[in-house]
Amino acid sequence: MLVNMCEMLNKAKNEKYAVPQFNINNLEWTRFILEKCEELNSPVILGVSEGAMKYMGGFKTIKDMVNDLVDYLNISVSVALHLDHGSSFEVCKNAIDAGFTSVMIDASKYSLDKNIEITKQVVEYAKSKNVSVEAEIGRVGGSEDGNNNGIVYAHVTESVEFSKATGIDFLAPALGSVHGLYKGEPKLNFKRMEEISKITNLPLVLHGGSGIYDEQIKKAISSGICKINFNTELQIAWSNALREKLKTNSSYDPRKVIKMGEEALKECVRIKCELLGSVNHC
Ligand code: 13P
Repeated sequence: MLVNMCEMLNKAKNEKYAVPQFNINNLEWTRFILEKCEELNSPVILGVSEGAMKYMGGFKTIKDMVNDLVDYLNISVSVALHLDHGSSFEVCKNAIDAGFTSVMIDASKYSLDKNIEITKQVVEYAKSKNVSVEAEIGRVGGSEDGNNNGIVYAHVTESVEFSKATGIDFLAPALGSVHGLYKGEPKLNFKRMEEISKITNLPLVLHGGSGIYDEQIKKAISSGICKINFNTELQIAWSNALREKLKTNSSYDPRKVIKMGEEALKECVRIKCELLGSVNHC
């Protein structure tokens, strides 16, 4: 059964570990991630960007696919189906109406007042459907779905005002992370992370998990991060394995070709779940 993220992230907050969000791109990725998390007894969040939603044929197609795979594979761990970086109230509403159990509204490109206004509207609608809401303040850097952003660090006072005014369940304060590959060393503001966590008392979310050093991930978790998003590292693991195997394997059946990256993707999922401490937390 699909669940929203409230119980899994509040449990993670109390027990000091983080739940991974892995972004999905197709049926096979979804299956590989579900199978590995079941084996590890780890809760998991399946993230779907708007670009991935369009690629896979809309929110309802994805919700049905995920639901049916969970059934077919006898998945017993907690699985949340989450919209990643919803750009408007309408997009979030469409995901909720299709059966997504959680949404992120990302109105962080607007002024604080407008971010509050849009986020509040999403929270009101989501609450009536038992769907959890994540929202962003400041700006995660890098590139996602073709959009390039510079980093803007979230402020403590604005984070507090934003959380109180909107009633969100989880806050993603941008504190130096980027989507995609880092140019140089990731520079996360852990002091501010800890302050925001203490004052808001909300489970915090770290975007741009790929490329953040293991020690920094651990420090982030002890500073209040309860959910960490990974996409790029899975893509690199899968595509590198595929490129390597195709050098000596002349298969043309797409089922066999896509599966060439299965082991590498599952290994990446295992490493992240172990690093985040989510193994055996279901
Ligand atoms: P990476 O692609 O850098 O892992 O970031 C994923 C992410 O934050 C999705 O929202």
